[in-house]
Amino acid sequence: MSEYILEMQHITKTFPGVKALDDVTFRLRPGTVHALMGENGAGKSTLMKCLFGIYHRDGGSILFNGEEVDFKDSKESIDAGISMIHQELQPIRMMTIAENVFLGNYPLGKFNLVNHAKMNEETRILLDEVGLYLNPNTLLNDLTVSQMQSVEIAKAISHNAKVVIMDEPTSSLTTSEVEKLFEIIEKLKSKNIGIIYISHKMDEILRISDDITVMRDGQYVGTWPAKEMTTAKIIQAMVGRELTSLFPEKTNQISEEIVLELQDLTSPNPLSFKHASFTLRKGEVLGIGGLVGAQRTELMEALYGMRVLQQGKILIKGQEVSIRRPADAIKNRIALVTEDRRYNGIFGVLSITDNASVAALKEYVGRMGLLDEKKMNHVVDENVERLRVKTPDNKTRIESLSGGNQQKVILARWLANNPDILILDEPTRGIDVGAKYEIYQIINDLAAEGKSIIMITSEMSELLGVSDRIMVMCEGRVAGFLDREVATQESVMTLATKFMGAHEGGMESV
Ligand SMILES: Nc1ncnc2c1ncn2[C@@H]1O[C@H](COP(=O)(O)OP(=O)(O)OP(=O)(O)O)[C@@H](O)[C@H]1O
Ligand SMILES: [Mg+2]
Repeated sequence: MSEYILEMQHITKTFPGVKALDDVTFRLRPGTVHALMGENGAGKSTLMKCLFGIYHRDGGSILFNGEEVDFKDSKESIDAGISMIHQELQPIRMMTIAENVFLGNYPLGKFNLVNHAKMNEETRILLDEVGLYLNPNTLLNDLTVSQMQSVEIAKAISHNAKVVIMDEPTSSLTTSEVEKLFEIIEKLKSKNIGIIYISHKMDEILRISDDITVMRDGQYVGTWPAKEMTTAKIIQAMVGRELTSLFPEKTNQISEEIVLELQDLTSPNPLSFKHASFTLRKGEVLGIGGLVGAQRTELMEALYGMRVLQQGKILIKGQEVSIRRPADAIKNRIALVTEDRRYNGIFGVLSITDNASVAALKEYVGRMGLLDEKKMNHVVDENVERLRVKTPDNKTRIESLSGGNQQKVILARWLANNPDILILDEPTRGIDVGAKYEIYQIINDLAAEGKSIIMITSEMSELLGVSDRIMVMCEGRVAGFLDREVATQESVMTLATKFMGAHEGGMESV
């Protein structure tokens, strides 16, 4: 008997114009976490989809439990004991938790009717296992992303999975939700389940994995015990060169001119932002730090005209403006790149060019109201190249790009709009280290061109490495500002928790 529960060997897979997998090897030991790493478009998700029966490999072999397998679809794979939690969760939102868990596998009772009592009872036991104490009749639509993910895990266990694949499971989770996921992973390990874990977050990888395999451009680079690896070594294996610095040198000059001023912005929702005031100067990168729930996104959405205000003023170059809808914001040359690409209006079947130019169409309307496609394609090509989007060409449908590359197209789309004030909400989520550097470089270049940037980020190193000035929010309020020179992890955290627990003592001072 081999020491591996799963052995994938010499796997190849070609899509039109792309060799996505080229002789890839991957072996998983039971009861361990095996991290699969690589840049955006390296082929991680494709390799897992070949295992799971979503894609059919062109060549190579897969041994599961010592036996050769070839799943025709995901159902066969699940029945055999391999489950996958996808990069983009796709639960059926109008069904209950129990129905989602037993999808296609309902326990039948008398007269072949679905036995709901049994289904709910079994679901309750599974939910207990993953620490989700909810009524099995709750609709998926009413759950948070983290809860939906727990349901997916419950579903995986329900099929007695021996292997669970997690493709970027933490990209939408809060810190405490990540901790909970890690507890569940430990539990799965203790049941001798093997876990394949895909993530771009180095600290997570180094913390929970036993083995690390790196892929680059569809090829296998190597496998190492995690305890022999460091962030630098992993990056080197991923990008094939040493990245001496994670952040580009700053070249922007901040001018005295104030391009944007917020005065006392307050939401009608008492739990949301209140009395938010700040200024933004030409050529400045203002980072917004804070813990999840600090209302940073909400404040930016209000600035962008997506939320109503109870009070407060927005001034652009010293003039008060009225921003009641995104169109008003766009007219004032403000752009917002939101954090969640699933709600970000990706048009899956449209090409990259179409997606990247949707926001900017007005710019490309030429004489007689016709679309100047040549001009549009040119700008899109430029941006796609600048961001190193990995794609055969710009006519490719965006849904066939890797997750991180979709994110880059969204960014390209807003760059095509040439805004004066660019708001970026978690701009590097799901993006690999090499491409992160490119995005930081673009932020830097835009600022050097005299644009102003507001960047919300939950990554401390990014906040400290990219911002000229940092505004920290806590529970809807601005807790303070830190200049680049003096900001540290500790000073940011102190501000991020400044007002916490204040209500318990009845000390709420607004
Ligand atoms: N259905 C498809 N049709 C055409 N090309 C595809 C398809 N699925 C993936 N590809 C291509 O295969 C390559 C590998 O993509 P894959 O999604 O496996 O990358 P990944 O390593 O998971 O990246 P990320 O970190 O961004 O999620 C990419 O060039 C991608 O564009
Ligand atoms: Mg992927």
